Amino acid sequence: MATTNTQTLLLLPGDGIGPEVVAETRRVAEAVAPDLKLEEALFGGASYDAHGEPLTAETLARARKADAILMGAVGGPQWDNVPRAKRPEAALLSMRKELDVYANIRPAYCFPALAAASALKQHLVEGLDLVIVRELTSGVYFGLPKEITTLPNGERRAVDTQSYTSGEIRRVARVAFELARGRKGRSGKFPGVLSCEKSNVMETGVLWREEVTKLHKEAFSDVPLHHMLADAAAMHLVKTPKDMNVILADNLFGDILSDEAAMLTGSIGMLPSAALGDPGTPGLYEPVHGSAPDIAGKGLANPIAAILSFEMVLRWSLNRIEAADRIVKAVGKALDSGARTGDLGGSMSTRQMANAILKAL
Ligand code: NAD
Ligand code: IPM
Ligand code: MN
Repeated sequence: MATTNTQTLLLLPGDGIGPEVVAETRRVAEAVAPDLKLEEALFGGASYDAHGEPLTAETLARARKADAILMGAVGGPQWDNVPRAKRPEAALLSMRKELDVYANIRPAYCFPALAAASALKQHLVEGLDLVIVRELTSGVYFGLPKEITTLPNGERRAVDTQSYTSGEIRRVARVAFELARGRKGRSGKFPGVLSCEKSNVMETGVLWREEVTKLHKEAFSDVPLHHMLADAAAMHLVKTPKDMNVILADNLFGDILSDEAAMLTGSIGMLPSAALGDPGTPGLYEPVHGSAPDIAGKGLANPIAAILSFEMVLRWSLNRIEAADRIVKAVGKALDSGARTGDLGGSMSTRQMANAILKAL
């Protein structure tokens, strides 16, 4: 945390469309929070090309000192053959682990103007407002061993390890319960927390269900809790998504469910996220989308996921609720006025979409 009253946001534009969407987000930040100190550093493939490391010790130190970090996106085909530890994605995983941002909050909110842009029928997504709470610093992403070995018979064998401790499950479940407590009064089949795992086939799923149930009994019995197998949840998410309020899932299931939820809102270019650790530690904010190599460098990317990630910075890390509300309203207004990038069926450039939002502020 900053020691003075000045709040600092470290921008990590990253790769592909990352720099394009972060540049527009910077303009929005300058408009709604002119006193906010914006810093910038290389990250991911861009850092690897410059320094031989996708995350340098200096960038990590600056991240620890900031009030929050906003990342664009990392990765791209040009780094496909770089050793795994030096790949852009590895930098993102290290950053999450080092900052211990274990709770990844991924809201899927369907702006009224985009109900027709969804892959689903309009009545299924109109008014959709759910949040995925994804565990972010453990599970199969980090469990050891993680390796490819050659067997005596010459075959190769790959192993990833799914592992969770009760403490890791409880701390992220607590975030989901607290979030649901603040989102009361929902109709729908699962008005509180819907916890997803595969307890029918996985030991981590059994422990997940037991620990979530225990914590619920101990401290959150006022919040409705339901359990569902993750595959069934994936189905339910496209069948009747408005049944859901707060979805709790592990690192891998949460990753998949959040891409699925993104499409309900119209485009993956719409979905922001916040990765939070214990109170008082810097949060890491990122659009859910990747570096979109297919459209990178063309000025076609939708900047809304990045701009809404900044909105989450204001709300969750900087306690600037009014400025955050202004951004959500402006995005809604811009969309109401017909502003659309290509992913939403329009033809606006990244810059034009940001201009429409700035105008609506
Ligand atoms: P992607 O999200 O980059 O792209 C998927 C599809 O969505 C593409 O067709 C792309 O053009 C489109 N898209 C994504 N964001 C968009 C936006 N803002 N506006 C308009 N269209 C958008 O996923 P991918 O193709 O599977 O991955 C590409 C690279 O990004 C890979 O190297 C992957 O590892 C990386 N990745 C990074 C992050 C991250 O940095 N947080 C997340 C996901 C993927
Ligand atoms: C995401 C991404 C990342 C993940 C990759 C790029 C490491 O898909 O943030 O959703 O799998 O967590
Ligand atoms: Mn993902």
